[in-house]
Amino acid sequence: MKNYDITVIIPTFNEAENIENITRTVSGILSGKGIKSEILVVDDNSSDGTIDIVKRLKDEIPGVNLIVREDDHGLSQSVVEGFENAQADIIQVIDADFSHPPDLIPEFYKSVKEDGYDVVIGSRYTKGGDIQNWPLKRRIISLGATVFGRILFPEITDPVSGFFAIKKDVVADAKMKPRGYKILMEVLGKGTWKRAKEIPFTFRDREEGESKLKLSTMADYLLQCLDIGTYALKNHETNVWQEWKKIIKFGLVGASGIVVNTAILYGLTDYLGIYYMISSLFAIEAAIITNFILNDTWTFGGAKNSHMDKRWKRFISFEVVSICGVVINMAVLFILTEFAGIYYLISNIAGIFIAFIWNFLVNRHVTWKNKTE
Ligand code: GDD
Ligand code: MN
Repeated sequence: MKNYDITVIIPTFNEAENIENITRTVSGILSGKGIKSEILVVDDNSSDGTIDIVKRLKDEIPGVNLIVREDDHGLSQSVVEGFENAQADIIQVIDADFSHPPDLIPEFYKSVKEDGYDVVIGSRYTKGGDIQNWPLKRRIISLGATVFGRILFPEITDPVSGFFAIKKDVVADAKMKPRGYKILMEVLGKGTWKRAKEIPFTFRDREEGESKLKLSTMADYLLQCLDIGTYALKNHETNVWQEWKKIIKFGLVGASGIVVNTAILYGLTDYLGIYYMISSLFAIEAAIITNFILNDTWTFGGAKNSHMDKRWKRFISFEVVSICGVVINMAVLFILTEFAGIYYLISNIAGIFIAFIWNFLVNRHVTWKNKTE
């Protein structure tokens, strides 16, 4: 053990054009700040001379180490092998091609070391983050990919970032199935962590060499999301399970709302003799009110879990989202029945389902959006 403060993992595959520059840059930035760094290059047996360059740097720069992998080729697998061999308790992962600005590493380091965050993520999608040199098609694919990630990790805007720092403990016992490019998703889904922070950065696409993103990468990603989701069903200490619990509670509250709605509709119509369409308005509003009370106290846990301190503000927000939900339900019912010729009760189930997703996601991200730390 050499007592390094941080291990910087640089995964490489044919990075002869970049590896010397990135290694010197990272090493220089960290030593300039008095941070003792191990730089761990994890290479997938590149054929372009990357390995020889790193061997030469290893003799010259203290802390440079190299792993050459012979089988199970892959970016995520390489990063996990880096985790297993990292000598410091704090680990940073960064691309070799300068897509991730190395001068932010000391800020990542400080956030873990001094501020105590378990995971620190370089985000392209949080306020202040950006992407340069990406064609529209790639932006859309990437943004689409983050949607799945955001269902699993609602507080994280860029769960597929390749630029992040963690405490080594986060992954020490994690049973990861690394595949594809999105190793951070695996860390978030299977690792042990409580506090995460995002640091905005501008992603600059490579000017040297080519990107290796393939179509199969996307298929891998979908499988990975499914795997993380099902893993959480069995492993209740994960952050994803906390989120599933909210979705389930929200669904149960919704079901209780149907009972309230039916009871009020029946009571007003049959006992008070009110016209049933008028009764229905009261029934809908009554269910919105009981749903709000249950969701506020039980599903989301009230003011401490919302950036809206006042209960009446959360209520107005919930009310508006719910009314939109009713409109969405009716619109889907109408469109599927009229234009797709689907039996109206089936259309209605589709409408309820889509309105449920709408209600959950918007309330989760607006009404009960967590206070940012
Ligand atoms: N060891 C190893 N094995 N390294 C690899 C492999 C591999 O199979 N494939 C790529 N790398 C290395 C590259 O050498 C580079 O240092 C880094 O991983 C990123 O590869 P790029 O091919 O440049 O990735 P990108 O620019 O398309 O993708 C970036 O964006 C993703 C988010 O959209 C990367 O930053 C990813 O990490 C990130 O998830
Ligand atoms: Mn790149």
